[in-house]
Amino acid sequence: MFLDDDVAQDLNDEPLLINDLETSSINSENDFYSKDDFYFVQITDTHVMHKLFDRGENQNRFKTVIEHIKSFTKKPAFIVITGDLVEWGSGLSGALNFKAFLECLYKKDGQLYTDEDGLIPVYTVPGNHDYRWFGALTNYHRLVDRNHILDGDKYVITHENLTLFFMDSGHDYILRPRGWIHVMGSGLTYWFDVSWLEDELSSCNSPHKIVLMHYPAINWGKYDTFVRNKDIFIQVCEGYDVDLVLAGHTHASRVFDKDKNFYENNMLPFNCSNYPTLYVQTNACKEGCFYRNITISGDDICLNPCEHIII
Ligand SMILES: [Fe+2]
Repeated sequence: MFLDDDVAQDLNDEPLLINDLETSSINSENDFYSKDDFYFVQITDTHVMHKLFDRGENQNRFKTVIEHIKSFTKKPAFIVITGDLVEWGSGLSGALNFKAFLECLYKKDGQLYTDEDGLIPVYTVPGNHDYRWFGALTNYHRLVDRNHILDGDKYVITHENLTLFFMDSGHDYILRPRGWIHVMGSGLTYWFDVSWLEDELSSCNSPHKIVLMHYPAINWGKYDTFVRNKDIFIQVCEGYDVDLVLAGHTHASRVFDKDKNFYENNMLPFNCSNYPTLYVQTNACKEGCFYRNITISGDDICLNPCEHIII
């Protein structure tokens, strides 16, 4: 197994810790909940494999998180899964992995749900592992999402006063010859992806905007991000007051701003209204049944810390 996901940080690039900003005027997640508030859940990096390959361990973790979320008294409006749905997605064995992933969910008219009544929709974007090993999303498109193939797996969902922009941050991209430890995301195209995002943001009337993709745009050092058109992507997000860019890939919980300032996890929850665009990495479901809630309450978005379930 190659080590592209977790550990490739440039340790010479020390993080700058933020100590001097007020965390939030909100003291806890519960402060946000009133009748008209809603929240959604981010899950990422489920890395599901068919039980032939891992005895169903990653599938069990994903099932555990889904069942846990379904048990909440106040249900989420929807769930987003930001890539690496399966450990590898290509070929016959990759199709078996995607089928094991889908066994945890329900599908109706091409849309995934957590339940057969269709109460909680599940939206996905692909990650680099979903491309492996042939660098294509054939099985992802065939089995998970065939609705956005012509749009390069980009789409927009609006729920009440929140609009989400789902994007594909690409397949494995090796920075150096024989440099598998420094695998990056192939990234966005300028005309097809970044201009699409700018067009969508410019015509968006929602007060709250969140972009979702697998690879982070910002990380410690220069690794484990996507490589193409990162700077212009960040400029667009800043220019249109995007609240959050939610990502996975690193199997870690980290929050940065565009200047790579690192916001420590013990500062969360954040009322995002008090912050610039935040670039968020959420810990992997496969690592410990992690998930993250994001709450929308009137004019405010609350970014909550990662939760995990002990099994
Ligand atoms: Fe991953």
